[in-house]
Amino acid sequence: MWHGAVRRLHHAHRRCRDAFFITTIDSIGTSQITTIEAIGGTPAGAKIQKAWLDHEVVQCGYCQSGQIMSASALLASNPHPSDADIDDAMSGNICRCGTYVRIREAIKLAAQTNEKVG
Ligand code: FES
Repeated sequence: MWHGAVRRLHHAHRRCRDAFFITTIDSIGTSQITTIEAIGGTPAGAKIQKAWLDHEVVQCGYCQSGQIMSASALLASNPHPSDADIDDAMSGNICRCGTYVRIREAIKLAAQTNEKVG
């Protein structure tokens, strides 16, 4: 049992590390950066934010910036993601409140309203 807990913690740490420390400022160069403050100005981000509100996804809010950014990037690159696509795209985000089911439903809702996003 203890080994299982350690393994889960290690897995969570690895996911956290992979999600937050892969990109360095130096590696960005002159690329454009969109932050959580501006994501609602993108077509995909606006749909995700509306779906988040419609599904009342947020609990404490701690993880939600990362969740919304990942979901918006997914929808911008894949207008009609499958469950596997959603799981893969969102796998780097950990929610201590357990909002995963509502997140998935919100992404599906956003995709349903998604005729053309970018
Ligand atoms: S909403 Fe609380 S950690 Fe995700």
